[in-house]
Amino acid sequence: MGAPVTLTFQDIWDAATDDERADLLNGADKIPKPPDLFPRQALAETLSGEAGELLYGGAAGGGKTHWLIEHAIQQAQDHPGNRVLIMRRVWPSHARTIEPRMKQRLAGVAVYNGGRHEFTFPNMSIIELGTCQYADDVFVYQGAEYGCIIFEELTEFLESQYLYLGSRLRPPVDDARPHIIATTNPGGVGHTWVKSRFVSMRDADGKPRPWPIEDVWKPDPTEREPNPPTRCFVPAKLDDNPALTKRDPTYRDRLRAITNRGRREALEKGDWDAIDQVEGALWSLVSIDENRVRSVDRSALDAVVVGVDPNVSSKVGSDSCGIVVAGVAFDERSSKMVGYVLEDCTMPHPTPKAWALAAIDAYHRWEANWVVAEVNNGGDLVERNIAVEDAGVPVRQVRASRGKHIRAEPIAALATPDIDGDVRWRFVGSHPVLEDQLTTWSPTDGGASPDRLDAMVWAATELMLGGGAWSGSSNADFFAEAESGGGYVGDEVWSGDSV
Ligand SMILES: Nc1ncnc2c1ncn2[C@@H]1O[C@H](COP(=O)(O)OP(=O)(O)O)[C@@H](O)[C@H]1O
Ligand SMILES: [Mg+2]
Repeated sequence: MGAPVTLTFQDIWDAATDDERADLLNGADKIPKPPDLFPRQALAETLSGEAGELLYGGAAGGGKTHWLIEHAIQQAQDHPGNRVLIMRRVWPSHARTIEPRMKQRLAGVAVYNGGRHEFTFPNMSIIELGTCQYADDVFVYQGAEYGCIIFEELTEFLESQYLYLGSRLRPPVDDARPHIIATTNPGGVGHTWVKSRFVSMRDADGKPRPWPIEDVWKPDPTEREPNPPTRCFVPAKLDDNPALTKRDPTYRDRLRAITNRGRREALEKGDWDAIDQVEGALWSLVSIDENRVRSVDRSALDAVVVGVDPNVSSKVGSDSCGIVVAGVAFDERSSKMVGYVLEDCTMPHPTPKAWALAAIDAYHRWEANWVVAEVNNGGDLVERNIAVEDAGVPVRQVRASRGKHIRAEPIAALATPDIDGDVRWRFVGSHPVLEDQLTTWSPTDGGASPDRLDAMVWAATELMLGGGAWSGSSNADFFAEAESGGGYVGDEVWSGDSV
């Protein structure tokens, strides 16, 4: 018996008669004709036929997603046996946009396998909807090959993910020209690399190129990409899409009502400069995202604390009570202690009783070792406030005597690679509001630091830097144990036994 033979579509196609080929293509003509592309979409379609990678990006509502879907279908129809991959960072984004729109468009034409997220056409072409939530999820695509890879909302992705997936371009059929297309609004974790790759191009001598180019160019080789694909950027404007403004005349007004200036300019005008990384911000979203972990076992954590930054007033409109749970564990690979943000259970302007109950709840759910709370004007009220609800919860009171940035800076430093390339402060899952505060607050602005940031910094200081001047003593046993096991050594944190 010989080895099993795997027939590819190409083999079947090459061996087929004309009649059989017509059968293989059967169904393509059943797809309802799409509405005509608007001029800018048509330009993107034309240029994508020449470029190795093309970004159609800018304002929201210009018709980017519509074009993306039509492009994918075209690639599947025109090249029997082709494989097209459409990527979003997380599945719920697909489930809200691409999946329902494609299902509607391809009803009765392509078969959808909801488990594999694949549309199979009568000509054996496949459009696959993929995701890569965590940085290393891209390795799921190892060994896969695609004639066309499509990124919806490219700035959601890390550059490393983009480059890795790009290496999966290897057309499964001869006549498909391998290429990448992407759509996006400005902003997001990938803003900076996407902007420098596609939007703000420079000549070899470093001079900025005139913008928009709307043409295909050959980028200079780099160490990482000795032979980069040809590139193209098509800026998207809201005015590109008369259908939307006609159907929904208030759409532009709604975009204008967005309060964050950078986001508003980005979504309304497709302005790439309005939303750059905040100057002076201590944390980088890229670094947070690259080092995100999916889960941490509570049993692997040596200590867990609940950080609390109480609000001064419980009136609506006053600030929130920041409540952030974090833990620390020994990392075998680096032989270092690594801290993890576990949960953000911040409450908007709660009463003292409400935040105390929330902190106590977090303490029990995480089997935390203690609560660390900032004492503000309330003096020891903070400790008493928790004790009234649950006297068994150990509380450390900390006083913000030094400047906020003096406390925040060493914690932020832990979240970027150290001299060995290790990152010692990581986020378990995603915490969008906390991460937004971390990456947009700049200590030099002079504004008060936000509540979630403060709560996290208190927790991190306790776990990673041996705490500050604490006054709580209700958990004396715990600390005595920690001390006898070594306690804190310099800032090489926690060398005591597991607790
Ligand atoms: N060529 C077109 N013809 C008719 N309607 C279109 C066309 N392009 C986009 N639309 C419609 O306009 C709306 C916004 O388009 P969409 O592709 O979602 O924009 P974007 O992704 O740029 O935010 C959608 O309802 C879409 O169906
Ligand atoms: Mg869209």
